[in-house]
Amino acid sequence: MSQTQGSPLMAVTGLDFTVGSLNILSDITLEVREREFVCIVGASGCGKTTLLRLMAGLLNPTRGAVRYRGREVTGPDPELAVVFQDYGRALLPWRTVGGNVELALEARRVPRAQWAAIVRDMLGRVGLAERADAYPVQLSGGMQQRLQIARCMAQAPQVLLMDEPFGALDAMTRQTLQDEVAGLCADAGVTVVFITHDLEEAIYLGDRVISMDKHPGRLSETLDIDLERPRNQLTTRETPRFLEYRHKLFNLLPPGH
Ligand SMILES: Nc1ncnc2c1ncn2[C@@H]1O[C@H](COP(=O)(O)OP(=O)(O)OP(=O)(O)O)[C@@H](O)[C@H]1O
Ligand SMILES: [Mg+2]
Repeated sequence: MSQTQGSPLMAVTGLDFTVGSLNILSDITLEVREREFVCIVGASGCGKTTLLRLMAGLLNPTRGAVRYRGREVTGPDPELAVVFQDYGRALLPWRTVGGNVELALEARRVPRAQWAAIVRDMLGRVGLAERADAYPVQLSGGMQQRLQIARCMAQAPQVLLMDEPFGALDAMTRQTLQDEVAGLCADAGVTVVFITHDLEEAIYLGDRVISMDKHPGRLSETLDIDLERPRNQLTTRETPRFLEYRHKLFNLLPPGH
């Protein structure tokens, strides 16, 4: 898979995660290529969030390793940004919209004189240019999630690790943000690992969709998604190939699975 394109950007090898005698993840091996958009789908409780936290260095594996550009990930790394499902808790309520984006610039030690221009650019990209002085509580859920994404992009990460980022949003906002994230990441050349339990969302966004089984959590099937980009909410979802992928995944992960 990756031989022709050099070594993978991220590699998870033989990863186990146990808590006491509970085996939460078992023997996970996964390679992510540079600029790839990989989606991971699985039933509630199968270990998706745990896997993402391990990839982000927020947890350490019981066995096996996570590597980023060949070096072992043993703690948080600013090149690996995490977008959490719970945007409410990811934002600082006492900081303005602009102030939340500035957090990433502070952490990167970007000279203060450059902040205003970067904040303006990032907020413009996610449609929040007019709201820089508002506080998170004054924004809708979709806007708060956009803000979290803008802050992550201001971190200038190489990899975006996203944990069901649109799970709490209504269907229309969700589709708009799917297209925004796909566009932003493609423009910035960011590699994405995207967790969702929405099979159609995974097919729509992914270059590859990997399904997970549970008890213990492990990877099961991989589906390479051969759909033209940029994708379109109406026409892509109507193509016979999209429906074929949907059937395959649905059979692997039926509702109530
Ligand atoms: N620190 C922990 N101690 C004990 N059990 C844990 C711990 N972390 C996770 N688990 C268990 O591991 C399993 C996987 O949890 P995880 O949150 O990764 O699942 P998930 O696939 O993200 O689920 P959801 O789709 O509901 O978000 C669950 O059964 C959970 O209860
Ligand atoms: Mg989860």
